[in-house]
Amino acid sequence: MRIARTPSEIRRQLKSLRASKSVAFVPTMGCLHAGHLSLIRRAKALADIVVVSIYVNPLQFGPNEDLDSYPRTFDADAKLCAEAGVDFLFNPTTLYPKSGPKITLKADSIPDCLCGRSRPGHFDGVITVVNILFNIVQPDIALFGEKDWQQLTLIRRMTLDLHMAVEVVGGETVREADGLALSSRNRYLTTADRSRAVAISRALYTMQQLARAGECDIEALKHAAIAILTDAGITAEYLDIRNPDSLKRKVTLNNRPARAFIAARVGHARLIDNMPLHQTEDF
Ligand code: PAJ
Repeated sequence: MRIARTPSEIRRQLKSLRASKSVAFVPTMGCLHAGHLSLIRRAKALADIVVVSIYVNPLQFGPNEDLDSYPRTFDADAKLCAEAGVDFLFNPTTLYPKSGPKITLKADSIPDCLCGRSRPGHFDGVITVVNILFNIVQPDIALFGEKDWQQLTLIRRMTLDLHMAVEVVGGETVREADGLALSSRNRYLTTADRSRAVAISRALYTMQQLARAGECDIEALKHAAIAILTDAGITAEYLDIRNPDSLKRKVTLNNRPARAFIAARVGHARLIDNMPLHQTEDF
């Protein structure tokens, strides 16, 4: 595995290979776990060369968020990447001019709900950095986790609207044995918080089971989920059921595609998760 620290270095490394080999790219902020590794495995199956980036992107953090404390575990990450068969690891010190970028991307409407509402500017920071990373790596395929469903939706939309020559592939959410979605931020959980945090996935599974058993009333589903969260002492920042593509809010299921989304603060961690609520397998 080769490690590059600057855009020009990774560009140079990839240049001669690009003509004959396909490139799959997995952008990350490091502190790698089995969720990231499943994307890397998928990338290896889909292309000749796998590039992973590790960059904690300041542009996607709000002023009172965890940019400074975000876990940075480069040596362990590099070891995991090498073991997973990553070909190139791109770990830039920065991707922006010292005075900050003058030109950034902005997404309309999709970010106004869910995490976009609670983290203003977050998704503009995400699409800006992913666009920069795509420009540097120029992948054929890029992989993103379904755990960050709104992010995946926006990146798909960005590649469509901007006619980018990259295929976006989504990877299923990897979970702990008890259902908690893996996240770099799970490190912030104390033992007591960790046992409460499982209520988030439990609430989602409960909505999924009720929907599959025929419940169409969104309020009834939400009510059941809130009861589980409340029992664990968790107040959701949002608990929403939306169309998986447009992210528009749904009022009823009626055999239409739907996805449930939860964000909640548990101790010092802000956690997000989502699950499909489709009543049939037709979607
Ligand atoms: P990060 O949180 O490090 O996540 C990197 C990728 O791993 C994202 O596509 C995310 O959806 C995926 N991922 C995280 N947890 C997962 C899980 N439990 N199962 C499956 N996939 C999971 O998301 C980001 O970084 C950043 O916003 C980034 C896209 C790199 C831009 O800075």
